Amino acid sequence: MMTQSKLALGTWQFGPDHGFWTDQALEDSKATLRFALKDTIRHIDTASSYGMGRSEQIIGSIWSSYHKREDLQIDTKFMPKAPHLVEKDVLTSLSRLKTSYVDTLYLHWPSSRISLLPILEQAAAQKESDRIKKLGLCNVSISLLEQLKPLLFSTLQVPCSLLWTRNLKPLVQYAQENQIQLAGYSPLGLGLLSGAYRTKPSDERANLYVYSEQAYPHFCRLLDALKTVSQEKKYSMAQVALLWARSQGFDTILVGARRAEQLAQSLATDHMALDSRHIKELDELSETLCSHAPKEWDNLFGHRW
Ligand SMILES: NC(=O)c1ccc[n+]([C@@H]2O[C@H](COP(=O)([O-])OP(=O)(O)OC[C@H]3O[C@@H](n4cnc5c(N)ncnc54)[C@H](OP(=O)(O)O)[C@@H]3O)[C@@H](O)[C@H]2O)c1
Repeated sequence: MMTQSKLALGTWQFGPDHGFWTDQALEDSKATLRFALKDTIRHIDTASSYGMGRSEQIIGSIWSSYHKREDLQIDTKFMPKAPHLVEKDVLTSLSRLKTSYVDTLYLHWPSSRISLLPILEQAAAQKESDRIKKLGLCNVSISLLEQLKPLLFSTLQVPCSLLWTRNLKPLVQYAQENQIQLAGYSPLGLGLLSGAYRTKPSDERANLYVYSEQAYPHFCRLLDALKTVSQEKKYSMAQVALLWARSQGFDTILVGARRAEQLAQSLATDHMALDSRHIKELDELSETLCSHAPKEWDNLFGHRW
C-alpha cells in the first residue's frame, strides 16, 4: 500500500489571478489533480480567490471520483470582509468544492484597515455548524498572532521558501511553543528556484523583489549554489529547493504544480534528503538575499495590509 505523502498540493496555479499563472490550461490543472489523487497526495490547499473560485470548482469536480471525503484534507481560505459576509463566503466555497465541510478554513491575508477579531469570531463559529473543522491564519506576524491568541486558531500558513527566510526561525519556534501547526508555501519560490527563470518570467512573478537591482546578484548566487548541490546529489534544482523547505520543521509543505510531471518530481523528494552542510549553505545565501528586500516587508509579496 502506498504511504500518503506529507506534501500537500497547492492549487493557486489552477485559478490564475492577479497576473500569476495566466497561461495555465484547464486540462493541465485537471490532469495534475487527477495524478495527485491517484498517487500519494491526500491534502489539497485552495482559496476562494484563486481564479475567483475556479480552483475550488476544479477540485469540486474531481475529488469524489478518487477518494472518500474523510480520507482527504481539503483546505480553503477567505478574504477579510464584513463579519456578516463570512458565512456566505464559506457556503460558496463548500458549494464549489462539493463538500459539506472544509478541514481548515484560513483567513487569507490580515488587514490593518478592518478589525479582524469580529471576522475571525464569525469564522470560528462555522465550527459549530460543522462547516469547518479548524481555523487557520495566513501571513500573520508573531505580534498579530499574540493579539489573536484567544481565538483558538490551530494552523498558520506562511512562506517556507529560500526566497523568503526573514523571521522564519522565530516564527517556527513560536509555533512549536504554542502548539500551532505550520503549513509552508512557495517552496519552489513560485518556480524561480528551479533555475528556469534566471531572466524574468513574462508574468507577475517578474515583479518579485529578487529581480530588483540590489537583490538580483544574490538571487543568482543562490541559483548557482542550488545548481552545484543538484549536480552533486543528482537531484533537480527544484527538488533541492523543496528538500530545503522540507527540512525547516513545518508540519506540511504546500507545493504548486502546473503539470503532472512537475508534481511527480516533487513527490520523488519523499525518498530524498540533503546533507546538513547543504542546508546551512542555502540558509546563509537565502539570509543574504532576503536582507536586500525592502526593510519594511514582512512577507515575500511585500507588506500588503
Ligand atoms: N496563503 C497564501 O497567501 C499563499 C501564498 C502563495 C501560495 N500559497 C499556496 O501554496 C501553494 C504553493 O506555492 P506557490 O504556488 O506559490 O509556489 P511553488 O510551489 O513554490 O512553485 C510552484 C511552481 O513551480 C514550478 N514547478 C513546479 N514543480 C516543478 C518542478 N518539479 N520543476 C520545476 N518547476 C516546477 C511551476 O511553475 P512554472 O511551470 O511556471 O515554472 C509551479 O507552478 C500554492 O499553490 C497555494 O496553494 C498560499
